[in-house]
Amino acid sequence: EKGGWPSFMDKEIHEDPAAVADTLLGRFDEKGDIVLDEVRIEPDAFRSVDKIIVVACGTASYAGLVAKYAIEHWVRIPVEVELAHEFRYRDPILTPRTLVVAISQSGETMDTLMALRHAREQGSRVLAICNTQGATIPRESDAVLYTHAGPEIAVASTKAFVAQVTAAYLLGLYLAQVKGTMFRDEIHQVLDNLKAMPDKIQWVLDTQRESIERAAKRMLNAHSFLFLGRHVGYPVAMEGALKLKEIAYTFTEGFAAGELKHGPIALVDEGEPVVVIVPSARGRDTLHNKVISGIEEVKARGAYTIAVAEEGDPDAERYADIVFWRPACPTLLSPLVDVVPLQLFAMDMANLKGYDVDKPRNLAKSVTVE
Ligand code: M6R
Repeated sequence: EKGGWPSFMDKEIHEDPAAVADTLLGRFDEKGDIVLDEVRIEPDAFRSVDKIIVVACGTASYAGLVAKYAIEHWVRIPVEVELAHEFRYRDPILTPRTLVVAISQSGETMDTLMALRHAREQGSRVLAICNTQGATIPRESDAVLYTHAGPEIAVASTKAFVAQVTAAYLLGLYLAQVKGTMFRDEIHQVLDNLKAMPDKIQWVLDTQRESIERAAKRMLNAHSFLFLGRHVGYPVAMEGALKLKEIAYTFTEGFAAGELKHGPIALVDEGEPVVVIVPSARGRDTLHNKVISGIEEVKARGAYTIAVAEEGDPDAERYADIVFWRPACPTLLSPLVDVVPLQLFAMDMANLKGYDVDKPRNLAKSVTVE
């Protein structure tokens, strides 16, 4: 069933482009309007939503964090992201106008299920973003937006992440459409950009393998890694750190780049590997410059820096020791491409160390206990 691939993880990373494309499929009409009739929540109910709370665990929670940046920008309503296991123990504020979005690949994660039950008991609506048809979480939700990544076998989630992020974008655009917070043209523009993402992911898969493998070989004996990013690069940094931790058993910490000077920079010593997600040099240039100065700061303390950056970014080329390139795309959509080299990097590290990348120790594919 691995279709000739050495591992499910390898196969599934190579299915990232299809996971995005298939999740978009059939979710818009020929005019370019978003059509989510299948979720079965009346547009009026969507119109009344004044807050979103995403509940999820692990990788799904990082997809939720990406959703926060996009949905707040497009829909102008607050989006909170809460680890599902923390949610119901803190007396969250839930009203009938709160939309709780439960993100889960398996649809069986007990922590997430308990959080959504709590939300429904308090009178909020729950929409599941789920990859598994008919699983418990979508069955117990008021509505469901399926990701179409296909079955994910490897314990480390890869193609499900890009599909979850895609589904969250669709939800955001749909809300913007029914609430009128974006012009139709703007929605069509984002949708066109989204449709171009599978080819951009494919470009990363086709062109960056060699430098990623080289970096993995070079870093094989590193004891720890820091991952940092800003804005939507922050959840990508967290996800890259989680991947490496899960399958290569390396201590990693992912954090927001702005936190460096508030503590983590104390960890940086000669040779410490630091992976930095660099935002596009176009657009929000202050963001780009701040992240680049983060690279300079850690380099000045001897760090070995790996950047994920937009093709041709002269600063990334100049300051980072190794660059994993990705094609240009709008900042809000960049997690779909930025995460790909980090998935490959974690897999290469684990393979080089001789670990079973599909079945890492101590972990199960779906966590059905609280
Ligand atoms: O099936 P779920 O999406 O609910 O699973 C949530 C997490 O357990 C999961 O994403 C976990 O963090 C993965 N092993 C990450 O690779």
